[in-house]
Amino acid sequence: MSRHTVRIVVNGVTGRMGYRQHLLRSLLAIRAAGGVPLADGTSIWPELVLVGRNPTKLAELAERHDLPDWTTDLDAALARDDVHVYFDAQLTQAREKAVRAAIAAGKHIYTEKPLADTAATALELAQAAREAGVCHGVVQDKLFLPGLRKLKRLIDGGFFGRILSVRGEFGYWVFEGDWQSAQRPSWNYRTADGGGIVLDMFPHWHYVLEDLFGPVRSVTAHVTTHIPRRVDEKGTPYDATADDAAYAIFELAGGIVAQINSSWAVRVYRDELVEFQVDGTEGSAVAGLRECRIQHRATTPRPVWNPDVPVTEDFRAQWQTVPDNEHFDNGFKVQWERFLRHVTGHGPFPWDFFAGARGVQLAELGLQSAREGCRVEVPELLA
Ligand SMILES: NC(=O)c1ccc[n+]([C@@H]2O[C@H](COP(=O)([O-])OP(=O)(O)OC[C@H]3O[C@@H](n4cnc5c(N)ncnc54)[C@H](O)[C@@H]3O)[C@@H](O)[C@H]2O)c1
Repeated sequence: MSRHTVRIVVNGVTGRMGYRQHLLRSLLAIRAAGGVPLADGTSIWPELVLVGRNPTKLAELAERHDLPDWTTDLDAALARDDVHVYFDAQLTQAREKAVRAAIAAGKHIYTEKPLADTAATALELAQAAREAGVCHGVVQDKLFLPGLRKLKRLIDGGFFGRILSVRGEFGYWVFEGDWQSAQRPSWNYRTADGGGIVLDMFPHWHYVLEDLFGPVRSVTAHVTTHIPRRVDEKGTPYDATADDAAYAIFELAGGIVAQINSSWAVRVYRDELVEFQVDGTEGSAVAGLRECRIQHRATTPRPVWNPDVPVTEDFRAQWQTVPDNEHFDNGFKVQWERFLRHVTGHGPFPWDFFAGARGVQLAELGLQSAREGCRVEVPELLA
């Protein structure tokens, strides 16, 4: 079978996301499957150039996965004629400089979210990529989660009638780092390093809301730092200057109200780490990462408020599980396959830098709302 080689510079490959989701579960999984199959019987074969800052770590990783092409010199990698794509999973603050260099080198670009740490920069990158005529895309992985795919199927099938509201609950306890190590890198908790739950999660909420329910028209957010002191990877205490919880209301075009809590200081009493309840005139659904449950109006019980007697109904048992009906592959991998098809001229890729910039804009306006204590309208981001 003939194959089209696409050589990708993978930067930030030693990081949490770069290694686990992008290298292991996406790019190496695609290679293990023989490449990305195309309709004409050929396939796309990703060749990888690993880039990072630490030669020891890179050499070890390259050896472990038999990927001999690696360097600590990003400019040299971008100068290569045989490189087609630049991928960035670095820490957010390092992204702008590298993406600009990749645009200048005429490479197609795929990047982790958030695209940048300000909306103005994100928009500039989008415009520069468009002017350079390169393909551009931002990771929007939550759209490919089985739970959200099933939710989308319900929306497309008209299950809900008129959708009234969305309630999202995201979060878990991130250990402070003293008596148990933190499960997230410490930069997430320092504003100066691009941390904060709003900048991290609002770009996700933006594309979930926009793709499933419609454009976001306003945001009202209360943002706070519940845990002000943490201990970093080296055991050194530091001030957690970034927000670790956000309680937000988003108004969507068409009147849908979405309310999403995001917190790294909450203990989980839920079935999944993120859950969205959608209520519509004809039925409701609760979608998590993998599962999706529904209750139709015809099977909606009639609870009567009476705190004087014990609960008589098993409310959770009154919901039905939505079947998979298809195989759901890893969401990061599915999006990689779409991007690789796109750069080789085999299909569109709607999740471009402009979509990424709208996500950063929502984070910025959420922080503004919290600072000013008011509802903030979301203006159209001029392309
Ligand atoms: N799509 C998602 O669900 C998701 C989830 C978590 C993180 N992310 C995003 O992925 C990116 C990486 O996050 P992560 O959790 O993998 O972080 P990480 O700290 O584990 O990895 C950061 C990577 O950036 C590199 N880097 C480059 N310059 C650096 C510098 N000056 N200081 C420190 N590291 C530097 C590191 O070597 C490392 O490879 C971030 O932009 C983050 O917002 C996305």
